Amino acid sequence: MKLQIVSVLVAVALSEATNIKHRHADVAKRQNSSTSTVSASSSPVASGSSSSTAATASASATGAATSLTTTGPPASATWGTSFPPLSQISSGMPTEITQAAATTYTPGSMPTYYSAASPLPSPFVYSAATWPAQDKVPDPTSDEVQEWLKELDGFKIPDIDQTVDGTCGSSPAAAQNASARGWWTCGGWTRDTDITVCPGKKGDWGLSFDDGPGFYSTKLFNWLSEKNILATFFTVGSRVIERPDVLREEYMAGHEISVHTWSHPHLTTLTNAQIVAELGWTRKAIKEVLGVTPTTMRPPYGDIDDRVRAISLAMGMIPIIWTRTSSGFSFDTFDWEIPGGAVTSNQSLAQFNSILSNASSLQDGFIVLQHDLFGATVDMAVGYTLPAALSYSPPYNLLPIGQCNGIPYTNMYLESNVNSTFPYPTDSGVDVDGDGSTSSQSKSSSGSSSATKNAGSRQISSISSVSLLSAVAVAALWTAL
Ligand SMILES: *[C@@H]1O[C@H](CO)[C@@H](O)[C@H](O)[C@H]1NC(C)=O
Ligand SMILES: *[C@@H]1O[C@H](CO)[C@@H](O)[C@H](O)[C@H]1NC(C)=O
Ligand SMILES: *[C@@H]1O[C@H](CO)[C@@H](O)[C@H](O)[C@H]1NC(C)=O
Ligand SMILES: *[C@@H]1O[C@H](CO)[C@@H](O)[C@H](O)[C@H]1NC(C)=O
Ligand SMILES: *[C@@H]1O[C@H](CO)[C@@H](O)[C@H](O)[C@H]1NC(C)=O
Repeated sequence: MKLQIVSVLVAVALSEATNIKHRHADVAKRQNSSTSTVSASSSPVASGSSSSTAATASASATGAATSLTTTGPPASATWGTSFPPLSQISSGMPTEITQAAATTYTPGSMPTYYSAASPLPSPFVYSAATWPAQDKVPDPTSDEVQEWLKELDGFKIPDIDQTVDGTCGSSPAAAQNASARGWWTCGGWTRDTDITVCPGKKGDWGLSFDDGPGFYSTKLFNWLSEKNILATFFTVGSRVIERPDVLREEYMAGHEISVHTWSHPHLTTLTNAQIVAELGWTRKAIKEVLGVTPTTMRPPYGDIDDRVRAISLAMGMIPIIWTRTSSGFSFDTFDWEIPGGAVTSNQSLAQFNSILSNASSLQDGFIVLQHDLFGATVDMAVGYTLPAALSYSPPYNLLPIGQCNGIPYTNMYLESNVNSTFPYPTDSGVDVDGDGSTSSQSKSSSGSSSATKNAGSRQISSISSVSLLSAVAVAALWTAL
Protein backbone atom coordinates (compact mmCIF):
# COMPACT_ATOMS: atom_id res chain seq x y z
CA MET A 1 0.00 0.00 0.00
CA LYS A 2 2.82 2.34 0.88
CA LEU A 3 4.49 1.63 -2.41
CA GLN A 4 1.32 2.51 -4.28
CA ILE A 5 1.12 5.87 -2.58
CA VAL A 6 4.76 6.52 -3.17
CA SER A 7 4.49 5.72 -6.82
CA VAL A 8 1.44 7.89 -7.27
CA LEU A 9 3.23 10.74 -5.59
CA VAL A 10 6.31 10.23 -7.63
CA ALA A 11 4.23 10.11 -10.78
CA VAL A 12 2.45 13.31 -9.85
CA ALA A 13 5.65 14.98 -8.84
CA LEU A 14 7.47 13.88 -11.94
CA SER A 15 4.71 14.88 -14.31
CA GLU A 16 4.45 18.28 -12.64
CA ALA A 17 8.19 18.59 -12.77
CA THR A 18 8.19 17.64 -16.43
CA ASN A 19 5.60 20.27 -17.25
CA ILE A 20 7.64 23.01 -15.78
CA LYS A 21 11.17 21.84 -16.17
CA HIS A 22 12.05 24.56 -18.61
CA ARG A 23 11.44 27.03 -15.84
CA HIS A 24 12.62 25.03 -12.91
CA ALA A 25 15.82 23.21 -13.49
CA ASP A 26 16.19 23.12 -9.74
CA VAL A 27 13.67 20.31 -9.58
CA ALA A 28 15.83 18.23 -11.89
CA LYS A 29 18.93 19.27 -10.00
CA ARG A 30 17.49 18.01 -6.75
CA GLN A 31 16.46 14.76 -8.34
CA ASN A 32 19.98 14.40 -9.65
CA SER A 33 21.67 14.99 -6.33
CA SER A 34 22.97 12.19 -4.24
CA THR A 35 20.38 10.59 -2.05
CA SER A 36 20.70 11.20 1.61
CA THR A 37 18.90 10.07 4.69
CA VAL A 38 16.78 12.42 6.67
CA SER A 39 15.91 11.90 10.25
CA ALA A 40 12.55 10.23 10.51
CA SER A 41 11.87 12.16 13.66
CA SER A 42 9.41 14.25 11.72
CA SER A 43 7.10 11.32 11.65
CA PRO A 44 3.95 11.77 13.58
CA VAL A 45 4.38 8.89 15.97
CA ALA A 46 0.99 8.78 17.53
CA SER A 47 0.26 7.81 21.07
CA GLY A 48 -2.45 5.29 20.34
CA SER A 49 -1.32 1.91 19.12
CA SER A 50 -3.67 1.91 16.18
CA SER A 51 -2.35 5.19 14.93
CA SER A 52 1.05 3.78 14.19
CA THR A 53 -0.57 2.00 11.30
CA ALA A 54 -1.45 5.42 9.96
CA ALA A 55 2.12 5.33 8.79
CA THR A 56 0.92 4.16 5.42
CA ALA A 57 0.65 7.82 4.53
CA SER A 58 3.97 8.49 2.99
CA ALA A 59 5.53 10.81 5.49
CA SER A 60 4.59 8.80 8.50
CA ALA A 61 7.08 6.36 9.84
CA THR A 62 6.48 3.42 12.07
CA GLY A 63 9.58 3.76 14.18
CA ALA A 64 13.32 3.75 14.22
CA ALA A 65 13.60 1.31 11.36
CA THR A 66 11.98 3.70 8.96
CA SER A 67 14.03 6.42 7.43
CA LEU A 68 12.71 8.82 4.89
CA THR A 69 15.15 9.41 2.14
CA THR A 70 15.23 12.49 0.04
CA THR A 71 17.39 14.12 -2.52
CA GLY A 72 19.55 17.11 -1.74
CA PRO A 73 22.56 17.91 0.39
CA PRO A 74 23.19 15.91 3.57
CA ALA A 75 20.81 16.53 6.41
CA SER A 76 23.70 17.22 8.75
CA ALA A 77 23.87 20.71 7.30
CA THR A 78 20.92 21.87 9.32
CA TRP A 79 20.05 24.35 11.99
CA GLY A 80 17.85 22.27 14.25
CA THR A 81 15.55 24.56 16.14
CA SER A 82 17.51 27.58 15.00
CA PHE A 83 17.54 29.07 11.52
CA PRO A 84 20.13 29.69 8.80
CA PRO A 85 21.60 33.02 7.75
CA LEU A 86 19.31 34.80 5.31
CA SER A 87 21.71 34.24 2.43
CA GLN A 88 21.44 30.49 2.91
CA ILE A 89 17.66 30.37 2.66
CA SER A 90 17.28 29.46 -0.98
CA SER A 91 15.98 26.92 -3.44
CA GLY A 92 19.15 24.87 -3.06
CA MET A 93 19.32 25.00 0.72
CA PRO A 94 20.20 21.85 2.63
CA THR A 95 17.43 19.62 3.82
CA GLU A 96 16.74 20.24 7.47
CA ILE A 97 16.19 17.75 10.22
CA THR A 98 12.59 18.00 11.27
CA GLN A 99 10.86 17.80 14.60
CA ALA A 100 8.06 15.52 15.69
CA ALA A 101 4.89 16.78 17.27
CA ALA A 102 5.79 17.01 20.94
CA THR A 103 2.42 16.17 22.35
CA THR A 104 0.04 13.47 21.37
CA TYR A 105 -3.52 13.62 22.53
CA THR A 106 -5.71 10.76 23.57
CA PRO A 107 -9.17 10.26 22.10
CA GLY A 108 -11.77 12.17 24.03
CA SER A 109 -9.41 15.05 24.86
CA MET A 110 -11.21 18.37 24.74
CA PRO A 111 -9.89 21.72 23.63
CA THR A 112 -10.08 23.92 26.71
CA TYR A 113 -10.18 27.28 25.00
CA TYR A 114 -13.74 27.25 23.68
CA SER A 115 -17.08 26.04 24.87
CA ALA A 116 -19.12 23.22 23.36
CA ALA A 117 -16.02 21.77 21.71
CA SER A 118 -16.17 18.22 20.39
CA PRO A 119 -13.96 15.53 21.95
CA LEU A 120 -11.02 14.40 19.82
CA PRO A 121 -11.88 11.24 17.89
CA SER A 122 -9.81 8.05 17.84
CA PRO A 123 -6.38 8.41 16.29
CA PHE A 124 -6.61 8.76 12.54
CA VAL A 125 -5.83 5.55 10.68
CA TYR A 126 -5.01 6.03 7.03
CA SER A 127 -6.41 3.56 4.56
CA ALA A 128 -5.65 4.06 0.88
CA ALA A 129 -8.97 2.55 -0.11
CA THR A 130 -10.97 5.30 1.56
CA TRP A 131 -9.10 8.39 0.38
CA PRO A 132 -8.46 9.96 -3.03
CA ALA A 133 -4.92 9.95 -4.41
CA GLN A 134 -2.85 12.68 -2.82
CA ASP A 135 -2.18 15.90 -4.70
CA LYS A 136 -4.63 15.20 -7.52
CA VAL A 137 -8.12 16.60 -8.01
CA PRO A 138 -10.35 13.90 -6.49
CA ASP A 139 -12.80 11.98 -8.66
CA PRO A 140 -15.93 14.15 -9.01
CA THR A 141 -18.14 11.09 -9.67
CA SER A 142 -17.46 9.30 -6.39
CA ASP A 143 -20.35 8.49 -4.04
CA GLU A 144 -18.99 10.95 -1.49
CA VAL A 145 -18.92 13.84 -3.96
CA GLN A 146 -22.42 12.98 -5.23
CA GLU A 147 -23.63 13.21 -1.65
CA TRP A 148 -21.85 16.53 -1.00
CA LEU A 149 -23.20 17.98 -4.24
CA LYS A 150 -26.66 17.86 -2.64
CA GLU A 151 -25.50 20.66 -0.33
CA LEU A 152 -25.69 22.95 -3.35
CA ASP A 153 -29.43 22.25 -3.78
CA GLY A 154 -31.43 25.42 -3.27
CA PHE A 155 -28.42 27.64 -3.81
CA LYS A 156 -28.00 29.73 -6.90
CA ILE A 157 -24.57 28.80 -8.21
CA PRO A 158 -23.65 31.33 -10.94
CA ASP A 159 -23.11 29.88 -14.37
CA ILE A 160 -19.58 31.18 -14.89
CA ASP A 161 -17.28 29.30 -17.25
CA GLN A 162 -14.03 27.79 -16.01
CA THR A 163 -10.81 29.73 -16.50
CA VAL A 164 -7.87 28.16 -18.32
CA ASP A 165 -5.31 28.29 -15.52
CA GLY A 166 -6.59 30.83 -13.03
CA THR A 167 -4.60 33.72 -14.47
CA CYS A 168 -5.92 36.77 -16.35
CA GLY A 169 -3.52 36.31 -19.22
CA SER A 170 -4.72 32.86 -20.25
CA SER A 171 -8.41 33.73 -20.14
CA PRO A 172 -8.74 37.19 -21.72
CA ALA A 173 -12.54 37.08 -22.06
CA ALA A 174 -12.92 36.16 -18.41
CA ALA A 175 -10.39 38.84 -17.50
CA GLN A 176 -12.48 41.45 -19.33
CA ASN A 177 -15.39 40.39 -17.17
CA ALA A 178 -13.44 39.97 -13.94
CA SER A 179 -15.45 42.58 -12.08
CA ALA A 180 -18.80 40.96 -12.90
CA ARG A 181 -17.37 37.58 -11.92
CA GLY A 182 -15.94 38.88 -8.66
CA TRP A 183 -12.63 37.28 -9.68
CA TRP A 184 -10.00 38.02 -7.04
CA THR A 185 -6.94 36.68 -8.82
CA CYS A 186 -7.66 38.99 -11.72
CA GLY A 187 -7.97 42.48 -10.30
CA GLY A 188 -8.58 41.80 -6.62
CA TRP A 189 -12.39 41.74 -6.85
CA THR A 190 -14.02 40.76 -3.60
CA ARG A 191 -17.53 40.41 -2.20
CA ASP A 192 -18.82 41.38 1.20
CA THR A 193 -18.94 37.73 2.18
CA ASP A 194 -15.13 37.46 1.83
CA ILE A 195 -12.90 38.00 4.83
CA THR A 196 -9.86 39.98 3.67
CA VAL A 197 -8.96 42.21 6.61
CA CYS A 198 -9.40 42.55 10.38
CA PRO A 199 -12.15 45.17 10.11
CA GLY A 200 -11.71 48.34 12.10
CA LYS A 201 -8.83 46.93 14.13
CA LYS A 202 -5.80 48.92 13.12
CA GLY A 203 -2.64 47.18 14.26
CA ASP A 204 -4.20 43.71 14.24
CA TRP A 205 -2.25 41.23 12.15
CA GLY A 206 -4.20 38.19 11.00
CA LEU A 207 -1.46 35.60 10.89
CA SER A 208 -1.92 32.78 8.41
CA PHE A 209 0.08 29.80 7.21
CA ASP A 210 -0.99 27.79 4.18
CA ASP A 211 -0.31 24.34 2.72
CA GLY A 212 0.58 22.32 5.83
CA PRO A 213 0.78 20.37 7.95
CA GLY A 214 4.28 19.79 6.56
CA PHE A 215 7.65 18.52 7.72
CA TYR A 216 8.53 21.90 9.22
CA SER A 217 5.18 22.87 10.72
CA THR A 218 6.32 21.67 14.13
CA LYS A 219 9.34 23.98 14.05
CA LEU A 220 6.96 26.87 13.43
CA PHE A 221 4.52 25.55 16.02
CA ASN A 222 7.23 25.41 18.69
CA TRP A 223 8.37 28.94 17.92
CA LEU A 224 4.81 30.29 18.07
CA SER A 225 4.21 28.44 21.35
CA GLU A 226 7.31 30.01 22.90
CA LYS A 227 6.07 33.46 21.95
CA ASN A 228 2.49 32.73 22.92
CA ILE A 229 1.22 33.56 19.44
CA LEU A 230 -1.69 31.87 17.69
CA ALA A 231 -2.36 31.74 13.94
CA THR A 232 -4.79 30.37 11.37
CA PHE A 233 -3.62 27.30 9.44
CA PHE A 234 -5.15 26.72 6.00
CA THR A 235 -4.50 23.03 5.60
CA VAL A 236 -4.27 20.84 2.52
CA GLY A 237 -6.19 17.57 2.80
CA SER A 238 -3.36 15.59 1.22
CA ARG A 239 -1.07 16.79 4.03
CA VAL A 240 -3.64 16.37 6.81
CA ILE A 241 -3.81 12.61 6.25
CA GLU A 242 0.00 12.45 6.37
CA ARG A 243 0.51 14.34 9.61
CA PRO A 244 -2.63 14.04 11.70
CA ASP A 245 -0.69 14.50 14.96
CA VAL A 246 0.73 17.81 13.81
CA LEU A 247 -2.77 19.04 13.00
CA ARG A 248 -4.07 17.85 16.38
CA GLU A 249 -1.28 19.67 18.16
CA GLU A 250 -2.06 22.91 16.32
CA TYR A 251 -5.78 22.65 17.00
CA MET A 252 -5.45 21.66 20.67
CA ALA A 253 -3.11 24.60 21.28
CA GLY A 254 -5.75 27.06 20.02
CA HIS A 255 -4.62 27.72 16.47
CA GLU A 256 -7.53 28.04 14.06
CA ILE A 257 -7.81 25.30 11.46
CA SER A 258 -9.33 26.05 8.05
CA VAL A 259 -9.78 24.34 4.67
CA HIS A 260 -7.33 24.94 1.80
CA THR A 261 -8.40 22.21 -0.68
CA TRP A 262 -7.18 18.67 -1.28
CA SER A 263 -4.64 19.20 -4.07
CA HIS A 264 -4.06 22.96 -4.22
CA PRO A 265 -5.52 23.70 -7.67
CA HIS A 266 -6.73 26.99 -9.09
CA LEU A 267 -10.39 26.53 -8.16
CA THR A 268 -11.73 28.69 -11.02
CA THR A 269 -10.34 26.10 -13.48
CA LEU A 270 -12.47 23.29 -12.05
CA THR A 271 -16.03 22.11 -12.62
CA ASN A 272 -18.58 22.57 -9.84
CA ALA A 273 -18.29 18.91 -8.87
CA GLN A 274 -14.49 19.09 -8.77
CA ILE A 275 -14.65 22.13 -6.49
CA VAL A 276 -17.03 20.25 -4.22
CA ALA A 277 -14.59 17.31 -4.26
CA GLU A 278 -11.59 19.49 -3.35
CA LEU A 279 -13.38 21.18 -0.45
CA GLY A 280 -15.35 18.13 0.65
CA TRP A 281 -12.41 15.74 0.99
CA THR A 282 -10.36 18.30 2.91
CA ARG A 283 -13.24 19.03 5.24
CA LYS A 284 -13.68 15.28 5.78
CA ALA A 285 -9.96 14.77 6.50
CA ILE A 286 -10.00 17.54 9.12
CA LYS A 287 -13.20 16.17 10.65
CA GLU A 288 -11.73 12.67 10.96
CA VAL A 289 -8.56 13.96 12.59
CA LEU A 290 -10.03 16.66 14.85
CA GLY A 291 -13.72 15.83 15.14
CA VAL A 292 -14.68 19.29 13.86
CA THR A 293 -15.61 20.83 10.52
CA PRO A 294 -14.21 24.27 9.65
CA THR A 295 -16.69 26.99 8.65
CA THR A 296 -14.02 28.84 6.68
CA MET A 297 -11.76 28.16 3.70
CA ARG A 298 -9.05 29.83 1.64
CA PRO A 299 -8.85 29.42 -2.15
CA PRO A 300 -5.31 28.49 -3.28
CA TYR A 301 -3.61 31.47 -4.99
CA GLY A 302 -6.66 33.49 -3.88
CA ASP A 303 -8.28 32.15 -7.03
CA ILE A 304 -11.96 32.72 -6.39
CA ASP A 305 -14.89 34.05 -8.40
CA ASP A 306 -18.64 34.13 -7.71
CA ARG A 307 -19.07 30.49 -8.76
CA VAL A 308 -16.34 29.20 -6.43
CA ARG A 309 -17.58 31.58 -3.71
CA ALA A 310 -21.19 30.38 -4.01
CA ILE A 311 -20.15 26.71 -3.86
CA SER A 312 -17.98 27.35 -0.85
CA LEU A 313 -20.76 29.25 0.95
CA ALA A 314 -23.32 26.58 0.06
CA MET A 315 -20.98 24.01 1.65
CA GLY A 316 -20.84 26.14 4.78
CA MET A 317 -17.43 27.76 4.37
CA ILE A 318 -16.71 31.49 4.35
CA PRO A 319 -13.83 32.43 2.02
CA ILE A 320 -10.81 34.07 3.64
CA ILE A 321 -8.23 35.74 1.41
CA TRP A 322 -5.36 38.05 2.37
CA THR A 323 -5.25 41.81 2.32
CA ARG A 324 -4.82 43.77 -0.87
CA THR A 325 -4.60 47.55 -0.62
CA SER A 326 -6.63 50.01 -2.67
CA SER A 327 -3.58 50.50 -4.87
CA GLY A 328 -3.42 46.77 -5.58
CA PHE A 329 -0.55 45.84 -3.28
CA SER A 330 -0.98 42.25 -2.09
CA PHE A 331 0.06 41.13 1.42
CA ASP A 332 1.68 37.97 0.07
CA THR A 333 5.20 37.50 1.45
CA PHE A 334 6.22 35.42 -1.61
CA ASP A 335 7.95 33.08 0.85
CA TRP A 336 6.55 30.14 -1.10
CA GLU A 337 8.42 31.23 -4.21
CA ILE A 338 11.79 30.72 -2.53
CA PRO A 339 11.85 26.88 -2.73
CA GLY A 340 11.14 27.03 -6.48
CA GLY A 341 13.84 29.63 -6.97
CA ALA A 342 11.53 32.32 -8.39
CA VAL A 343 12.21 34.69 -5.48
CA THR A 344 15.27 35.05 -3.24
CA SER A 345 15.11 35.32 0.53
CA ASN A 346 16.21 38.95 0.19
CA GLN A 347 13.34 39.67 -2.18
CA SER A 348 10.86 37.98 0.11
CA LEU A 349 12.15 40.01 3.06
CA ALA A 350 11.93 43.20 0.99
CA GLN A 351 8.34 42.30 0.12
CA PHE A 352 7.66 41.75 3.79
CA ASN A 353 9.04 45.18 4.61
CA SER A 354 6.75 46.66 1.96
CA ILE A 355 3.86 44.91 3.68
CA LEU A 356 4.86 46.50 6.98
CA SER A 357 5.03 49.96 5.45
CA ASN A 358 1.77 49.54 3.53
CA ALA A 359 0.10 48.21 6.68
CA SER A 360 0.95 51.32 8.67
CA SER A 361 -1.33 53.43 6.49
CA LEU A 362 -4.35 51.11 6.78
CA GLN A 363 -7.22 51.83 9.12
CA ASP A 364 -8.17 48.17 9.27
CA GLY A 365 -6.08 45.36 10.60
CA PHE A 366 -4.73 43.15 7.85
CA ILE A 367 -4.10 39.55 6.82
CA VAL A 368 -0.68 38.36 5.63
CA LEU A 369 0.00 35.23 3.58
CA GLN A 370 2.81 32.92 4.74
CA HIS A 371 3.43 29.16 4.41
CA ASP A 372 4.50 26.28 6.61
CA LEU A 373 5.18 23.67 3.91
CA PHE A 374 8.91 24.20 3.39
CA GLY A 375 12.02 24.64 5.48
CA ALA A 376 12.68 27.89 3.65
CA THR A 377 9.26 29.39 4.40
CA VAL A 378 9.34 28.36 8.06
CA ASP A 379 12.90 29.70 8.44
CA MET A 380 11.84 33.01 6.90
CA ALA A 381 8.99 33.22 9.41
CA VAL A 382 10.78 32.22 12.63
CA GLY A 383 14.12 33.77 11.72
CA TYR A 384 13.19 37.00 10.02
CA THR A 385 9.66 38.11 9.33
CA LEU A 386 7.87 37.32 12.59
CA PRO A 387 10.69 38.70 14.79
CA ALA A 388 10.58 41.86 12.65
CA ALA A 389 6.83 42.07 13.09
CA LEU A 390 7.15 41.66 16.86
CA SER A 391 9.81 44.34 17.24
CA TYR A 392 8.00 46.81 14.99
CA SER A 393 7.03 50.10 16.55
CA PRO A 394 4.21 50.49 17.28
CA PRO A 395 3.92 46.76 17.91
CA TYR A 396 1.51 44.68 15.90
CA ASN A 397 -1.01 42.38 17.51
CA LEU A 398 -0.48 38.98 15.88
CA LEU A 399 -3.54 36.74 16.12
CA PRO A 400 -5.71 34.26 14.22
CA ILE A 401 -8.00 35.61 11.51
CA GLY A 402 -11.25 34.49 13.14
CA GLN A 403 -10.24 36.27 16.33
CA CYS A 404 -9.28 39.51 14.58
CA ASN A 405 -12.71 39.39 12.89
CA GLY A 406 -14.52 38.94 16.19
CA ILE A 407 -15.60 35.42 15.26
CA PRO A 408 -15.54 33.25 18.38
CA TYR A 409 -13.82 29.85 18.17
CA THR A 410 -17.24 28.32 18.70
CA ASN A 411 -18.32 29.58 15.28
CA MET A 412 -15.13 28.57 13.50
CA TYR A 413 -16.40 24.97 13.56
CA LEU A 414 -19.74 23.65 12.40
CA GLU A 415 -20.25 21.36 15.40
CA SER A 416 -20.20 24.20 17.92
CA ASN A 417 -21.41 27.09 15.76
CA VAL A 418 -24.29 28.96 17.40
CA ASN A 419 -24.68 31.76 14.86
CA SER A 420 -27.51 30.91 12.46
CA THR A 421 -26.38 33.52 9.95
CA PHE A 422 -22.78 32.28 9.90
CA PRO A 423 -21.48 31.05 7.56
CA TYR A 424 -24.72 31.57 5.68
CA PRO A 425 -28.46 31.27 6.13
CA THR A 426 -29.19 27.99 4.42
CA ASP A 427 -32.80 28.69 3.49
CA SER A 428 -32.16 31.25 0.77
CA GLY A 429 -29.91 31.86 -2.17
CA VAL A 430 -26.29 32.88 -1.99
CA ASP A 431 -26.06 36.51 -1.08
CA VAL A 432 -22.56 37.28 -2.21
CA ASP A 433 -22.63 40.91 -1.15
CA GLY A 434 -24.38 40.36 2.17
CA ASP A 435 -27.36 42.63 1.50
CA GLY A 436 -29.96 39.94 2.08
CA SER A 437 -30.61 39.08 -1.56
CA THR A 438 -28.68 37.58 -4.41
CA SER A 439 -26.75 40.34 -6.01
CA SER A 440 -24.27 41.06 -8.74
CA GLN A 441 -22.85 44.15 -7.11
CA SER A 442 -19.12 44.06 -6.82
CA LYS A 443 -16.28 46.01 -5.39
CA SER A 444 -12.60 45.83 -6.04
CA SER A 445 -9.92 46.66 -3.55
CA SER A 446 -8.01 48.04 -6.49
CA GLY A 447 -10.72 50.61 -7.10
CA SER A 448 -10.43 49.99 -10.82
CA SER A 449 -12.12 47.62 -13.16
CA SER A 450 -9.28 47.57 -15.63
CA ALA A 451 -8.22 43.97 -15.91
CA THR A 452 -5.27 45.03 -18.00
CA LYS A 453 -4.04 47.43 -15.39
CA ASN A 454 -4.52 44.92 -12.66
CA ALA A 455 -2.86 42.17 -14.60
CA GLY A 456 0.08 44.49 -15.00
CA SER A 457 0.26 45.29 -11.33
CA ARG A 458 0.84 41.75 -10.24
CA GLN A 459 3.98 41.04 -12.13
CA ILE A 460 5.75 39.15 -9.38
CA SER A 461 2.85 36.83 -8.85
CA SER A 462 2.34 36.22 -12.55
CA ILE A 463 4.89 33.43 -12.40
CA SER A 464 3.68 32.26 -9.08
CA SER A 465 1.27 29.54 -10.02
CA VAL A 466 3.90 27.75 -12.01
CA SER A 467 6.49 27.95 -9.31
CA LEU A 468 4.13 26.70 -6.66
CA LEU A 469 3.41 23.70 -8.82
CA SER A 470 7.10 23.07 -8.80
CA ALA A 471 7.21 23.64 -5.07
CA VAL A 472 4.39 21.18 -4.52
CA ALA A 473 6.11 18.71 -6.82
CA VAL A 474 9.32 18.98 -4.85
CA ALA A 475 7.42 18.58 -1.60
CA ALA A 476 5.66 15.53 -2.93
CA LEU A 477 8.98 14.07 -3.96
CA TRP A 478 10.53 14.72 -0.59
CA THR A 479 7.54 13.20 1.00
CA ALA A 480 7.48 10.23 -1.26
CA LEU A 481 11.07 9.16 -1.60
C1 LIG B 1 22.85 14.96 -13.55
O1 LIG B 1 23.99 14.15 -13.37
C2 LIG B 1 24.59 13.79 -14.61
C3 LIG B 1 25.73 12.81 -14.29
O2 LIG B 1 26.47 13.23 -13.20
C4 LIG B 1 25.08 15.05 -15.31
O3 LIG B 1 25.68 14.72 -16.56
C5 LIG B 1 23.88 15.96 -15.54
O4 LIG B 1 24.32 17.17 -16.12
C6 LIG B 1 23.16 16.26 -14.24
N1 LIG B 1 21.95 16.99 -14.51
C7 LIG B 1 21.61 18.06 -13.82
C8 LIG B 1 20.31 18.66 -14.18
O5 LIG B 1 22.28 18.51 -12.90
C1 LIG C 1 -19.89 38.61 -17.31
O1 LIG C 1 -20.18 37.93 -16.09
C2 LIG C 1 -21.52 38.01 -15.70
C3 LIG C 1 -21.62 37.37 -14.33
O2 LIG C 1 -21.10 36.07 -14.34
C4 LIG C 1 -22.41 37.33 -16.74
O3 LIG C 1 -23.74 37.45 -16.37
C5 LIG C 1 -22.15 37.98 -18.08
O4 LIG C 1 -22.85 37.28 -19.08
C6 LIG C 1 -20.68 37.99 -18.43
N1 LIG C 1 -20.45 38.73 -19.64
C7 LIG C 1 -19.65 38.29 -20.60
C8 LIG C 1 -19.50 39.20 -21.79
O5 LIG C 1 -19.04 37.24 -20.52
C1 LIG D 1 20.95 39.94 0.59
O1 LIG D 1 21.01 41.09 1.42
C2 LIG D 1 22.17 41.17 2.22
C3 LIG D 1 22.02 42.32 3.18
O2 LIG D 1 21.44 43.42 2.55
C4 LIG D 1 23.38 41.30 1.31
O3 LIG D 1 24.56 41.35 2.09
C5 LIG D 1 23.43 40.10 0.39
O4 LIG D 1 24.48 40.23 -0.52
C6 LIG D 1 22.13 39.93 -0.36
N1 LIG D 1 22.18 38.68 -1.08
C7 LIG D 1 21.78 38.57 -2.33
C8 LIG D 1 21.89 37.21 -2.94
O5 LIG D 1 21.34 39.50 -2.97
C1 LIG E 1 3.44 49.66 -0.53
O1 LIG E 1 4.48 48.87 -1.08
C2 LIG E 1 4.83 49.21 -2.40
C3 LIG E 1 5.84 48.20 -2.91
O2 LIG E 1 6.99 48.26 -2.16
C4 LIG E 1 5.37 50.61 -2.42
O3 LIG E 1 5.68 50.98 -3.74
C5 LIG E 1 4.35 51.56 -1.87
O4 LIG E 1 4.90 52.83 -1.76
C6 LIG E 1 3.90 51.11 -0.49
N1 LIG E 1 2.82 51.95 -0.04
C7 LIG E 1 2.80 52.46 1.16
C8 LIG E 1 1.62 53.32 1.49
O5 LIG E 1 3.66 52.26 2.00
C1 LIG F 1 -23.31 36.09 13.14
O1 LIG F 1 -22.62 36.12 11.91
C2 LIG F 1 -22.83 37.28 11.16
C3 LIG F 1 -22.08 37.11 9.86
O2 LIG F 1 -22.66 36.11 9.09
C4 LIG F 1 -22.35 38.48 11.92
O3 LIG F 1 -22.62 39.66 11.17
C5 LIG F 1 -23.04 38.55 13.25
O4 LIG F 1 -22.49 39.60 14.02
C6 LIG F 1 -22.87 37.25 14.00
N1 LIG F 1 -23.64 37.29 15.22
C7 LIG F 1 -23.10 36.99 16.39
C8 LIG F 1 -24.00 37.07 17.57
O5 LIG F 1 -21.92 36.68 16.53
